[in-house]
Amino acid sequence: MNLKDRIAVVTGISKGIGNALCQQLLAKGSKVYGLGRNKGEIEHPNFTFISCDIRNEEEVKTSIESILSKHSQIEILINNAGLGYFGFLEEMPSEQWHEMFDTNINGMFYCIKAVLPQMKVAQTGHIINIASTAALEGMPQVSAYCATKWAVKGLSESLFREVRDFGIKVTCVYPGSTKTDFFRNAPGIKPHDYMLMPEDVALGMIQALEMPDNFHTVNWEIRPLQVKGPKISKP
Ligand SMILES: NC(=O)c1ccc[n+]([C@@H]2O[C@H](COP(=O)([O-])OP(=O)(O)OC[C@H]3O[C@@H](n4cnc5c(N)ncnc54)[C@H](OP(=O)(O)O)[C@@H]3O)[C@@H](O)[C@H]2O)c1
Repeated sequence: MNLKDRIAVVTGISKGIGNALCQQLLAKGSKVYGLGRNKGEIEHPNFTFISCDIRNEEEVKTSIESILSKHSQIEILINNAGLGYFGFLEEMPSEQWHEMFDTNINGMFYCIKAVLPQMKVAQTGHIINIASTAALEGMPQVSAYCATKWAVKGLSESLFREVRDFGIKVTCVYPGSTKTDFFRNAPGIKPHDYMLMPEDVALGMIQALEMPDNFHTVNWEIRPLQVKGPKISKP
């Protein structure tokens, strides 16, 4: 897909991966609608911020309807908004469990549900869901976050098979540790320069979006090469 003049919706754009992706989509000439609780610093004639907590289905519906009142089609949906809390499962406050599920998977469902019908009519579109490498393996003290991201994987792989005959692509992205504010709830982990950069993850999504119409990336796993830095010194 050529990204010029495409209508794209990105959730969670105030910082991190979503912010980097917005900047790259705008640089490609797309018209970007950012759904989020906070706007962040993006200022661009082709960028519109819509205040929306994706945990609220009504807010998501109204936001998508307002975009569709201006454009005949939303061609790209990037489900990026998400968060993690960590620790032993039995010690996790239930509010944190629910906040993660409400954001990482329920919010994603609301966005897809609001956007998909018009993609089916147009018989084109690309939905990208951001999971995590935590969707590919279990990790101690990451059980709850893993559970939400395994749900994202299951949803994405099933939806891909559900909508491919309508000409709609679904891609699930599995990033490893990325240097963003995500680790604010993980006191043991300090973001550092050997992690992926949000721009790296965004670049991969741009490449997935730009692929020719007849094929697409179903699952895309990306990890830092040396997440703790080089272990072997150069000869
Ligand atoms: N960083 C990593 O290592 C990593 C690795 C794998 C996957 N991921 C995934 O990548 C995605 C982006 O994370 P990030 O690393 O960029 O983290 P981040 O810097 O914390 O950004 C998360 C974004 O999601 C938004 N958000 C959170 N809850 C929201 C809600 N209820 N409604 C609307 N927006 C909401 C935040 O906006 P406000 O808080 O300003 O509202 C923020 O813009 C997440 O799904 C995360 O699980 C991250």
